[in-house]
Amino acid sequence: MGQEQKKTGAIILAAGKGTRMHSDVQKQYMILKGKPLILYSLEAFEESPVQEIVLVVGVGETETVKKNVLEKECFKKSVTVVEGGRERYHSVYAGLQALSACGYVLIHDGARPLITRDIIYRAIEGARKYQACVVGMPVKDTIKVSDEDGFSEKTLKRAKLWQIQTPQAFSYDLARSAYDWIMEDMSRQEGVTDDAMVVEKWGGPRVKMIEGSYENLKVTTPEDLVVAEALIGRRGNLK
Ligand code: CTP
Ligand code: MG
Repeated sequence: MGQEQKKTGAIILAAGKGTRMHSDVQKQYMILKGKPLILYSLEAFEESPVQEIVLVVGVGETETVKKNVLEKECFKKSVTVVEGGRERYHSVYAGLQALSACGYVLIHDGARPLITRDIIYRAIEGARKYQACVVGMPVKDTIKVSDEDGFSEKTLKRAKLWQIQTPQAFSYDLARSAYDWIMEDMSRQEGVTDDAMVVEKWGGPRVKMIEGSYENLKVTTPEDLVVAEALIGRRGNLK
């Protein structure tokens, strides 16, 4: 196996607008326990076996992020900053194009600051073993499907349901082929919310579920910030 086949790259996404947070500062740059939210993910990947990191930021934000986030830290690994696009999948595609040749790629929402080295490790193992995997957790609530009028249409079998998180990890060639295919035609992009869906639509191999953590939440709405800060604080105390 050549060196680049063994290499693992990570794409950290921070090009979203954070509309559901309703804040002046974009959520990825909000200060959580003294640090910009995006820095938690960068540090976790910096301490992981991943060799290269691509950070995807909003249009026109590259220089500000370099100056305000990256240059204040001393990262041992190469961190390339690129601009994302309108939808999450545009940003992922920009990240895939910016990564240098590698065997595996991990795609992570920068809005999940509670990612750990262990989860990253399990995702890498999953990609090596299954070519395509996502981290997630079994759902705790009962999930119902509602009809157009807001009445319960059916109840899904909870034992089979997982809430999906990131990282989502793939053999690079597989992810690249699936994304190349989806980017060719807009009709293929409808309703795509994660990377596993892209692989599924493309007709790739089965995507394996890997255990994440209930703590690995995505900071989406204001109450998520309260929970994330509490969990980060508890972690700090445990250290
Ligand atoms: N993301 C991205 N590019 C986009 C949209 C989203 O890089 N065009 C990233 C976000 O920065 C985030 C992750 O994808 O790290 C998950 O997206 P989400 O939680 O939906 O964040 P936002 O899109 O920023 O928030 P909202 O949907 O509330 O606007
Ligand atoms: Mg979004």
